[in-house]
Amino acid sequence: MTLLLATPTMNPAAWLRAFERLTPELDVRAWPDCGDPTDIRFIVAWETPPGFFSEFPRLACIASLGAGVDHLLGDPDLPRGVFVTRVIDPSITQQMSEYVILHVLRFSRHSQSFDQDTVEEIWRPRIPLQASDLTVGIMGLGQLGLDAAHKLMQLGFPVIGWRRTHKDVAGITTYVGAEALPDFLAECRVLICMLPLTPATQGLLDAETFRLLPRDAYVINVARGAHLVESDLMAALDRGHLAGACLDVFETEPLPAGHPLWHHPKVTITPHIASLTNPTDVVPQMAENYQRVMAGERPHHLVDIERGY
Ligand code: GLV
Repeated sequence: MTLLLATPTMNPAAWLRAFERLTPELDVRAWPDCGDPTDIRFIVAWETPPGFFSEFPRLACIASLGAGVDHLLGDPDLPRGVFVTRVIDPSITQQMSEYVILHVLRFSRHSQSFDQDTVEEIWRPRIPLQASDLTVGIMGLGQLGLDAAHKLMQLGFPVIGWRRTHKDVAGITTYVGAEALPDFLAECRVLICMLPLTPATQGLLDAETFRLLPRDAYVINVARGAHLVESDLMAALDRGHLAGACLDVFETEPLPAGHPLWHHPKVTITPHIASLTNPTDVVPQMAENYQRVMAGERPHHLVDIERGY
């Protein structure tokens, strides 16, 4: 029985080492050296091409190497009846909260303007925006969104949330569904997208959403590039409606050379690093899921394929 690492866009060496250290007895192979496809029961996958899994007739479980599973569920040939799991790990949650806090504070403390002043050697004090005046709206109150929400509240930011479906979230005013979106957006001085990418959330950050945000709002996208209509964001920035944006994810990654976002003075760009999966941290949960599935049990962190996350 064999586990396959299928990460065509990423070098699997660190994953192989982590499995070798933790489970030396397990037969772990790395694509494209799959051997006999009927050996493969469990695939740890990242950004595999459509149809990839059809080659493995005895596959029982596909484990996303990251928190997101849109790269798997977008495959029209994803085999039915196979478990799909995602990673939930404290280090992923911690990194994501750090990123979000960093960029909310960079906005409130005018860091981008001070960076520019430094280049030009200009001594120009600017009064920080007060945390208590900056309502942060988080779209998506899952594992990651909730942690960021609680940490931002500890720093004194009022936090509200928006979810597509109802769930009680203690201590956070939560707006639910499309009909509540305008009221939610009207309150957000900072809007953070932490939603899973599904057909229902694709393109949600568009001209209409930006129009409903208060003037001088700041937008942070740490979810997926496809949540954001980049041309609508640039238009909202250019007409002075939005104060700025911080983007970790893009419609096309890597962000192509010459793309106007690279040079936009109000945009901070990072190369999809808000939260990275560390093999040593998450190989134990994958190895445990492998054992569970081989024993006929349901794996942890199971994805609801119909719901999309
Ligand atoms: C990264 O984007 C992830 O889904 O873990």
